[in-house]
Order: sequence, then C-alpha cells, then structure tokens
Amino acid sequence: MSDKRILLIIGGGIAAYKSLELIRELGRRGIACRCILTSGGSQFVTPLSVSALSGEKVFTELFDLDDEAEMGHIQLSRSADLVVVCPATADLMAKAVHGHANDLASTTLLATDTPVLMVPAMNVRMWQHAATERNVAQLRSDGVTVMEPDEGAMACGEFGPGRLPQVPAIVAEIERQLDGQGQSSGKGKGALEGTHCIVTAGPTREPLDPVRFLSNHSSGRQGYAIAGALAAEGARVTLVSGPVALEAPRGVDLVKVETARQMLKAVEDALPADVFVSVAAVADWRPARAATKKLKIKGAGSATPSMELAENPDILRTVSNKRKNRPGLVIGFAAETNDVEEHATAKLKRKGCDWIVANDVSGDVMGGTENEIALVTQGGIDRWPRMGKTDVARRLAQKIAEALGGSDDDVKLAAE
Ligand code: C5P
Repeated sequence: MSDKRILLIIGGGIAAYKSLELIRELGRRGIACRCILTSGGSQFVTPLSVSALSGEKVFTELFDLDDEAEMGHIQLSRSADLVVVCPATADLMAKAVHGHANDLASTTLLATDTPVLMVPAMNVRMWQHAATERNVAQLRSDGVTVMEPDEGAMACGEFGPGRLPQVPAIVAEIERQLDGQGQSSGKGKGALEGTHCIVTAGPTREPLDPVRFLSNHSSGRQGYAIAGALAAEGARVTLVSGPVALEAPRGVDLVKVETARQMLKAVEDALPADVFVSVAAVADWRPARAATKKLKIKGAGSATPSMELAENPDILRTVSNKRKNRPGLVIGFAAETNDVEEHATAKLKRKGCDWIVANDVSGDVMGGTENEIALVTQGGIDRWPRMGKTDVARRLAQKIAEALGGSDDDVKLAAE
C-alpha cells in the first residue's frame, strides 16, 4: 500500500476530529493523505493539526492564487487513487448529488475521475430523513460507495444510526477500495451486485390467545445490520423480520411476519436466492392451540391451566436441506451461553448449513449494540474481536462477497 495516496475531504461535523486519527492510521500503513478541509470542517479541526498529521499542505479555498499556481483544483481532484469524504455530512452528500461546485470540496467531487468513498456521520433524524435516503440512493447509483453509519449514542444525545463508523472499519474499507477488491473498477458497483440475499431477523411471536404470546428478547439489530451491509454491497436483499422496533435499512425489501410458520413461508416465497442468512431468534415451540378468545381465569383457587407445546419448523434446516432452490451459501447463527464453539460446530452439521456465526449470549449481547463472534465453517474457526453489530455485519458481508466471488470450494474456505 506504500505507493497509494488518498484525497481526504473533511466535512463539518463533530466527527471531523476522528479524521485526525484516520490520517494517522493511514500513515502507519504507508497510505499518504492529502486533505481538503471544508469551512465547516475547520470549525472542528484546524488546518494546522491536519497538516501536522498528514505532513502535507491542507487545501481549503476554491479560489486561491497560490494553490492554483502550485496545484490547480482539477489536478487536486485527480491526484489520488481514491477520494474519501469523512465525515460526509448531509450537506456535502446533497451537494454531490446535485453537482454543486460552489466550494473546493464540492468542485473536487464534481471534477474527479477517481473512485469516491463517503463515510457519513450525522444526527439520526437527518440520516433517516427522506431527503438523505434519496441522496444516498442516488450517490450509490452514481457509483459512489457510501458506508453505513454505526448505531449508538450520539454527541447530540440521541440514539440510533448516524455515528461515524469506527476508524479501523473505515481504514479496512479504504484498503479494500485501494486493493480493488469488492468494488468493480472502483466505480462503486458493490461486490454483491446482481445477487439476491434473504435475511431473517428478530424474534417470532407464537400466540397463546389473541393477547398473549411466547417470544424472546431478540432486538433484530444484528439481522437488520446484516441486511443493510449486504444492500450496501449492492445485493438485492429480502429481510424477513419478526416484530421489532427498528426501521428497515435503506434499499432492503422488508417482509413483516409474526410466527415461525409465517417466517418460513415468507423465506420460501422469496427463493431463489444466492445467500440465506438466518439471524432470527425463531421460537422453537409454539402453543399447540391458540385460543380464539382471551383465556380467562376461572376464579380464585381454580386449577392452573396447562399449556401444550408443538414444535415449530426449523427454517435454517429446511432451507439448508432443500434439493431445489437451495441458496449457494447458507449461514446460521448460534446463540449459546456456554461451550459456544463446540455447540456451533455440532450445529453446522445438524442443520446442514455452510457457516455458523457463533456468539456468546451469556452477557449483554442480546438486545445490546455489540457482539463477539466466531465464524465456524467446515474449514475451521475464525474468532473475531468484540465489535459493534454494524462492524460484524460489514465484515460478514465482505466475507460473503469474497466467498461468492471465488470458486465453490472458496465458499467453504473463505472464513479460514
Ligand atoms: O438450534 P438453534 O435455535 O440454536 O439454531 C439457531 C439457528 O437456527 C439460527 O440461525 C436461527 O435463525 C435458526 N433457527 C431457525 N428456525 C428455528 C430455530 C432456529 O431458522 N425454528
């Protein structure tokens, strides 16, 4: 990577301070950074600190006689292997969509013939606003790679998606782009373009009567993040979700279900697919009979009613063992509280799937924002460090893209 150079456009947001860490991390990997600081960006970091870390002059003005004599803005836009906008504010993205050229950053984005990577960071409402959704979709179809922001507590005190991804995740994406991996000719066509992925997420609800049900604590976060990461790689994604309090990630077709049997039907209706990722915490049993009227207590001292259970279909096993329409890559999850890897390895065989993403749910994982997983394949076990659920999703999407990009054997070996 030592001969690679990026042009980093630092937008105006509180996350701008993380661009300093990004410059340092890239420098450690031998990736040179030339920087444009927008006037908003310079409210959060100074040109002096940016130039001290990058070891280069920082560009701020569109019309600067000295800069134009040294390096014109057109040349600046083409002198890098990759243009990275970090943080990409809602305003910068809107300008890029509409082809504005009223400052150095927007003019550079319009003039460049180099691949562009945008790393958004903004308030959750701004990120979820219809205008930003339209802009992100337009940027992606224009060939720009737009990373999904992280979810969590924000500087403004709100909670949700909109946080700048962790610096190591940004560095990994930059390296991937520079490697030319995953992105065709760097023009932003995702590595999963042309594929169809089905993801299940959330809990299922198994009714006992019209007001009561059996369910579990699954928040759906990991499954939704995986659906979003696959869509960000260009896949057509069908997300079959049990009841959760989450917005569907953009670009994903959401099918809402309640019970395990409805979930299986929705998955089968969505086939054929290249990839099936079974993240849902499907209830193993359901009440054998769901009363049509609310069950009533018969009076003090009356006998406690007993509940007979019936087994639910195992969606993962059913899909894994399909003769017709079995997706090329079937991935299951194994939430365990003990002996995680042994159980996961046994589950791989029992279910007949290709990979198992194993996680230890003995702590605060279920419903939380972080996850620590091991990817179990027939080739072995790959242990990942604890990271945010969005990072897990991104990394898994990349593994999936690598596996689909290779030969059939690679499907089994890609996770080693
Ligand atoms: O057997 P266990 O529930 O631990 O297996 C977990 C994996 O199987 C997950 O991928 C989950 O989505 C899937 N599963 C399923 N249908 C069930 C039970 C689990 O698809 N009825």
